[in-house]
Amino acid sequence: MAQSIPKEFIDSLLEKANIVDIIGGYIKLEKKGNDYWARCPFHNEKTSSFSVSENKQFFHCFGCGAHGNAIGFVMEHANKTYPEAIETIANSLGIEIPRNKDSSKQFEIKKTIQKSLEDAKHLYEENLKTSDAAIAYLKSRNISGVTAKLFGIGYAEDEFQNLNKNLGKKYTESNLLDAGLIVKKDKNAYDKFRGRIMFPIFDTSGKVIAFGGRNIVDDKKIDLAKYMNSPETALFSKKRVLYNLNLARNDKSSKEYIFVVEGYMDVVALYQAGIKNVVATLGTAITKDNLEQCFKYTKEIICCFDGDKAGEKAAWKGVENIMSVIKDGDEINFVFLPENNDPDDIVNKGGNELWKEIIKSKTSIEDFIYKKFSKDSNLDTAAGKTQYLKKVDELLKPLKAPIMKKMLHESLSEKIGAKYVSQVGEVRSKNKTKKNFASSSPLQKAILILLHHPNIKIDQDLLQDNRISDNKGIILIKSILSEIEKDVSTNMGRIMESFREDEKTYRTLEKISMMKIMKLEWPDKEFNACLCLTIKNFLQQKLDNIDSMNLEEFSNLKKEMSEIQEKAKNF
Ligand code: GTP
Ligand code: MN
Repeated sequence: MAQSIPKEFIDSLLEKANIVDIIGGYIKLEKKGNDYWARCPFHNEKTSSFSVSENKQFFHCFGCGAHGNAIGFVMEHANKTYPEAIETIANSLGIEIPRNKDSSKQFEIKKTIQKSLEDAKHLYEENLKTSDAAIAYLKSRNISGVTAKLFGIGYAEDEFQNLNKNLGKKYTESNLLDAGLIVKKDKNAYDKFRGRIMFPIFDTSGKVIAFGGRNIVDDKKIDLAKYMNSPETALFSKKRVLYNLNLARNDKSSKEYIFVVEGYMDVVALYQAGIKNVVATLGTAITKDNLEQCFKYTKEIICCFDGDKAGEKAAWKGVENIMSVIKDGDEINFVFLPENNDPDDIVNKGGNELWKEIIKSKTSIEDFIYKKFSKDSNLDTAAGKTQYLKKVDELLKPLKAPIMKKMLHESLSEKIGAKYVSQVGEVRSKNKTKKNFASSSPLQKAILILLHHPNIKIDQDLLQDNRISDNKGIILIKSILSEIEKDVSTNMGRIMESFREDEKTYRTLEKISMMKIMKLEWPDKEFNACLCLTIKNFLQQKLDNIDSMNLEEFSNLKKEMSEIQEKAKNF
């Protein structure tokens, strides 16, 4: 898909877009000196280490290492694919994306689905106004008019041709099928949702992408599902979406923690009671995608489950999904609610206060694991203990967070009186592995300088020197320079972009771009000195490998070395 948007277009888009405006549309930036700063949206922090450079059209977080250009930011922050991010930026600038036929068709389909869903939402909201039964139902569940409006709650009439009648002029049958609004059986198309309270499901930017509908028609003859979701469509995959994340992510309380509950009604009830940092899964166990999305906005996730067997089972599935996404510093806790009570019941009984009281009893992930495994094995016997430790090992295997892994291993072992012996070795801090300017190789340094200062004056004799013409770093520098030649006003963000499709090179550049650069008074001198050093290193290597009896070559090399060293001094 990425190839279907022409490269020239992407470059011209980045030329027009300003990363400060784009990022500023998502988070609040503050100008300090030349750059803009904010608290990093990709990890939790109290001070601002997230910087955006207008000159370089690049962002970088000194805390977690997140970095990239405008496209990269939109991908990460709004959870979008590469083409989607380009689309978002192009839309914000009012620019049409030229596309080949196939992708333009796909794009049109999505656009039509989205429009039809917005129209359906509007229709359902209108239907609600005139349905006494639906209004009475919402009242019986204590949902106020204000809340209903905020969530866009509506009602789908108990009719088979409601959509056809109202939207049939604007959309074809196939449009409505694509949107999952109607179903077709034996050539007959009819409304999927009938006699249901409708909950629009929004993406994080607030666009309707699907619906959930709760049945309120009591028809004993047919075994109707209580809830029904839109099917998977080009816009919607239920595993990837959390209900209410669009509103929850903007609430201040979400920075501390987010509750994950099981039902639409639970979200609506909690929100109405003033607990706005709440999202719901859509009838599935918490998925990796769900967690990754939440952790973009918070540092703690509190998973709430009904206090029965099914709730525990769902919670356990969540624990297993959690392992491979959890990062050091992330916190996950569990709340098991009193049996036969869901969050909606709780706020209806005792409001906000009762809820706060109950969630005080949250269980940490380690206690939850301990409870589960200690129940499964007889810990009075050596065999049982071994079994328990094996299970712990197995469960923690996919966990990538080194500090958390060590801590969980230790405390889960200690709980049964066993001593945990680390197999992973010492925990290495992430920051230690991050190279800085001083410890990088001369070529890395040269590339880093060039990315930050694309218009430096380069000594062509050095750059074209035969002795280093085969060096991969030099070859890369030359191709960066040919990008810069195309447009001297380019910047780091655009240079990086032009290498995105060459995966290996892109990764190399990414690594280098993350290195810290010092303020350089004479970046061109530094750059040229790095080229000298590269030549010197080449000569040194040659010197190390020649036959020591070959005195002529030895003295020639020595001479070449002192020449280049002399030249380096000029810089
Ligand atoms: P209320 O009875 O309206 O309070 O709903 P609830 O949220 O208490 O219901 P429950 O705990 O049974 O369901 C929680 C969530 O599971 C719902 O919000 C739905 O997402 C999903 N769900 C429940 N029942 C069904 C069903 O019959 N079909 C489908 N597809 N999903 C369901
Ligand atoms: Mn309920």
